[in-house]
Amino acid sequence: MALGLATGSTQESLYAQLVRLIRQRSIDVSKLTTFNLDEYIGLGEWHRQSYRYYMHEHLFKHLPLSRQRLHVPDGLADNPEKACQAYSEAIRAAGGLDFQLLGIGSNGHIGFNEPYTPFSSRTHTVALSDQTRLDNGRFFSAHSEVPTHAMTLGIQDILEAREIMLLATGRHKADTMAQLYHGDANEALPASALKHHHNVTIVMDREAASGLP
Ligand code: F6R
Repeated sequence: MALGLATGSTQESLYAQLVRLIRQRSIDVSKLTTFNLDEYIGLGEWHRQSYRYYMHEHLFKHLPLSRQRLHVPDGLADNPEKACQAYSEAIRAAGGLDFQLLGIGSNGHIGFNEPYTPFSSRTHTVALSDQTRLDNGRFFSAHSEVPTHAMTLGIQDILEAREIMLLATGRHKADTMAQLYHGDANEALPASALKHHHNVTIVMDREAASGLP
């Protein structure tokens, strides 16, 4: 089984519950393969704001997983473009993603696919938008420390997952979720690409859903 994983505040309680359930039910996770969506360029696995570090803290260190099956784009790769290409290929070689977990940015990004990323995109490097750097700046001691670039799975890679679940929580996501609900698929709102997928579940709390009918 290959799982596509996301980071972010929204996923923290999900990972805590997942760890509890897996332990309670003694589920064998030794054959589980994971591919994270994205990583900041320039941050290594021991940087506290890297997504590899986040995954270690919230999921990986709590379970008997096989380390060589856990994939996060390498933010320190010498040649990030080549590393991105290899990442998409590794997913295909693993048989594709059975399940992709997603969060959503306040500008509608999924992974780090910012507005107007082509829906046909594969894993690529990206210059982060001012909005995303501002949103994520809360985790860094100074805005100037927020990385300017990242690597992310492309929208086409995400759409190839056999099943997708997007989680959204909080009042600050309400306008985005309303746009997603009311609009058609449009590259201005990356998450709207999910309208082209036949097996998507969206889970929201009341605040995030407050702009829906
Ligand atoms: C991170 C990722 C991002 C986040 C999004 C929401 O791996 O994929 O798209 O899901 O930025 O982040 P939070 O949950 O912190 O609001």
